Amino acid sequence: MTKAYRATGMVWPKGMLMETPDAPAVAWSIDGRTFSYRSQLGGGVQLGGYVVVEAPQGPLLGQVLSQRSLEDGGHRLVTGDGQLLDAPPGQPAFDQVSLTAAPDELIAERLGRRGATIELGTLRDAATVEARLEAKGFNRHTFLCGQSGSGKTYTLGRLLEELLLRTRLPLLVLDPNGDHVHLGRTRDATDPAVAASYTEAAGDVRVLSAEPHEGADPLRINLRELGDVGIAALLQLDPIVDRMEYNALLHGLRQIPREGVERVETALEAFRVAGDEMLDQIRLRVENLGVDRMAAWALRSARTISEVWAGDEPRAVIADTSGFEAQRERTAVAVAVLEQLWADRKRRRPLLLVVDEAHDVCPAEPQDPLQRFAVDRFTRIAGEGRKYGIHLLLASQRPDKLPENVLSQCDNLLLMRVNSAGDRAALAAMFGFVPPELVELSGTFGLGESLVAGKVSPDPQLLRTGARLTPEGGADIPTDWAVVGER
Ligand SMILES: Nc1ncnc2c1ncn2[C@@H]1O[C@H](COP(=O)(O)OP(=O)(O)OP(=O)(O)O)[C@@H](O)[C@H]1O
Ligand SMILES: [Mg+2]
Repeated sequence: MTKAYRATGMVWPKGMLMETPDAPAVAWSIDGRTFSYRSQLGGGVQLGGYVVVEAPQGPLLGQVLSQRSLEDGGHRLVTGDGQLLDAPPGQPAFDQVSLTAAPDELIAERLGRRGATIELGTLRDAATVEARLEAKGFNRHTFLCGQSGSGKTYTLGRLLEELLLRTRLPLLVLDPNGDHVHLGRTRDATDPAVAASYTEAAGDVRVLSAEPHEGADPLRINLRELGDVGIAALLQLDPIVDRMEYNALLHGLRQIPREGVERVETALEAFRVAGDEMLDQIRLRVENLGVDRMAAWALRSARTISEVWAGDEPRAVIADTSGFEAQRERTAVAVAVLEQLWADRKRRRPLLLVVDEAHDVCPAEPQDPLQRFAVDRFTRIAGEGRKYGIHLLLASQRPDKLPENVLSQCDNLLLMRVNSAGDRAALAAMFGFVPPELVELSGTFGLGESLVAGKVSPDPQLLRTGARLTPEGGADIPTDWAVVGER
């Protein structure tokens, strides 16, 4: 805490506290690490806010993590509890000291510590204070949750901009709505100096798209990248129910030279000339399911997303899967990416794998063998990816849309508005490192407001996302239909 601030600290005289309606707030601590307090209603002390507690040994910064009202002698008071943030070791218990809302400069100093370089926006309750996240905290998995329209994709875009600007962490984004395809360029209205430094940082953002166009190369995968088990899953084969075909497929694939498995037609031709009845059955299955006609296959010399990622080591790849109508193709792309990242894990090249609408490719209740395989691969990365530098950032509307085994490995929560009380309770239970009353507050969040907690934000922060530097991809449908003429 600053010396200048220290000088303003004062101890409230005992016996004078809370006896009049405008009496100041009082605090006490039974352990020197946490505190409790009592104040008048409207005293300026907010849930999630910072306070200065005037301990006898000197002022201490605290954060309020729970609050409730109580009635005392006919008027209503607020009482609450919180954490002392910078108490020295061995801080003794204290009683009957004053507590005030911390001034903005003090909060800015606290949040501006070394390493907290990601500026996502401003604090919800202190609009002049920059909300800051610790870049290093993205070496853990992150869950971004909020209901439809709460501002997840907008905030995710802002976060990706900051990660490009302030870190060297490579980003691989699975983007099912084409929302992040403009991450490489700034909006027209951006300040020229900011635009110049952003353009430099984002110079190597590659966009790969299901439907290639100017500025976007084709987003493609090949058969081999799915792995033998992934190919079987794509063909809807179950190792037990379909054991004959499954086994023939495994042996058939092993007999084809490695390059032969890259293209479906080559593999089918190899199966045809083998003259094996089971392999003929598999050829029928491929054709009946339309697997040979999938748009995601790399034809001729087209490079796959994994080849671009591993070969060029770009700063960021946006994989716009919005043009793949069939969910199967989007899932196959995710599986190919996960398999190749895992196969390359020994390279220990750190990355953030960002999956917007994560339930699309990693659903809590997979419906077919391919989805089950994708979930299995996400679960493996959620459990073991961190030690190889593979970090996840998963965005979804509700916690129960994603598998519990995946979510339980997330050490960061970025929570936007959640209307459902049941979902908030589930989030509080699953993310035990976040004070439950702050999770509950998410029911009141407005557009773009969020709670960030975990390794990226050791103090839970309530914030409002700042303006984007880059244009949004798929904008919401305008609501001008709501008004007929001028009124
Ligand atoms: N911080 C913000 N400032 C200004 N506009 C915002 C902000 N956040 C979101 N919006 C706007 O609100 C709308 C909904 O936001 P967004 O698409 O990010 O929601 P979402 O949570 O991703 O929804 P869904 O789950 O349906 O994808 C968009 O039109 C977006 O431009
Ligand atoms: Mg969205």
